[in-house]
Amino acid sequence: MYKIKDLHAREVIDSRWNPTVEVELSLDNWVKWIAICPSWASTGIHEALELRDWDKSRFLWKWVLEAVKNVNISIKKDIVWDEYESFRELDEYLIRLDWTKNKSKFGANAILPVSMAFVDACAKNENKEIFEYLWEWNWHILPYPMMNIVNGWSHADNNVDIQEFMIVPVWATNIKEAIRMWAEVFHNLKKILQDKWLATSVWDEWGYAPNLRSNEEAIQVIIKAIEKAWYTTEQIKIALDCASSEFYKDWKYNLAWEWKILDGKELVNFYKDLVEKYPIISIEDWLAEDDFESWKLFEKELWKKIMSVWDDLFVTNIERLQMWIDQNMANSILIKLNQIGTVSETIDAIDLAKKHNMKSIISHRSWETEDTFIADLAVAKNTWFIKTGSLSRTDRIAKYNRLIRIEEKLWDKAKFGK
Ligand code: PGA
Ligand code: ZN
Repeated sequence: MYKIKDLHAREVIDSRWNPTVEVELSLDNWVKWIAICPSWASTGIHEALELRDWDKSRFLWKWVLEAVKNVNISIKKDIVWDEYESFRELDEYLIRLDWTKNKSKFGANAILPVSMAFVDACAKNENKEIFEYLWEWNWHILPYPMMNIVNGWSHADNNVDIQEFMIVPVWATNIKEAIRMWAEVFHNLKKILQDKWLATSVWDEWGYAPNLRSNEEAIQVIIKAIEKAWYTTEQIKIALDCASSEFYKDWKYNLAWEWKILDGKELVNFYKDLVEKYPIISIEDWLAEDDFESWKLFEKELWKKIMSVWDDLFVTNIERLQMWIDQNMANSILIKLNQIGTVSETIDAIDLAKKHNMKSIISHRSWETEDTFIADLAVAKNTWFIKTGSLSRTDRIAKYNRLIRIEEKLWDKAKFGK
């Protein structure tokens, strides 16, 4: 049994200089841990609620003192000095306390850091790392990183409609090597962009965000950079997160800078063309989360060829995931802790996906912090991939460095990639 002795939340700052909730939790033997809730730019409509104060007097509307108060008063009063057998028991209790379907009473940004901090403290109490504490297997699989390299749409202020262009160093034999390969490509991409007089400033997930003639040109410059770094497109593949709900309006997809307004069928053809021409292994959120009609089309055209990853559609929620499994229409899922709001519900989503042979990709949010919980979660749950931005700022580097340390610690007890 773990007895919670104290709980304290405060506002701290995320990587996009907005406030977010940090929770410090201690057990009765003084074991203490801190967890921080990430935040996000492109919110799926089905996600658990991120409670903001929406008052313009501080942080341009975005402060989170209400969520902080919910931890420090309501949640604290109910859980301090209580004993819990496991993090699952505490999560179930928190869910009951909130009682809303989307955690809108306390806010997912109040509940999640409590849930994470409790897992962290329990692990520390057992003298274990988080990945060891959550670990269920005898053998670890270290995830392939899907690494951000070019940003667009709501993650930048350039003219590219697709939100994330990532590279996946599938040829690497360990995490360290994957990271080195990414770094070499990133340096070379900078030179290529500079030669074209294009911007090399970095944006939300810390990839470059140049103005380009088309979305396709982003893929072309990335391939040039891969080759300039002396790799081939057999060794390094490309993954996209289109976040297409963001440019979906009135049942049409508006690729504004390409002057294209496409219906679902035309958009599927647009992707089909890209997949035929380029080494793309995965596309996330290619259609808007509620554009069901166009689903059948992409299923027919592309579903079997590449990983079709859903983020805004499943929102790490087993009820939503089950709906699509029942229709035999899911092959990969993006997993984000704060979309659902507790660690155990997140683990349930990973387990359900695994049971149905789907691939899970543990993901950061676009506005991150120094918290590295997701690196441990990916290793503990043996997921196929982790997506945690580029390597150009410390909020993302922290997760990659954590993976390097875990890899070293596990040594021959772990295998990289599937
Ligand atoms: P978000 O972006 O955190 O802004 O949702 C990340 C993603 O869509 O994968
Ligand atoms: Zn996404």
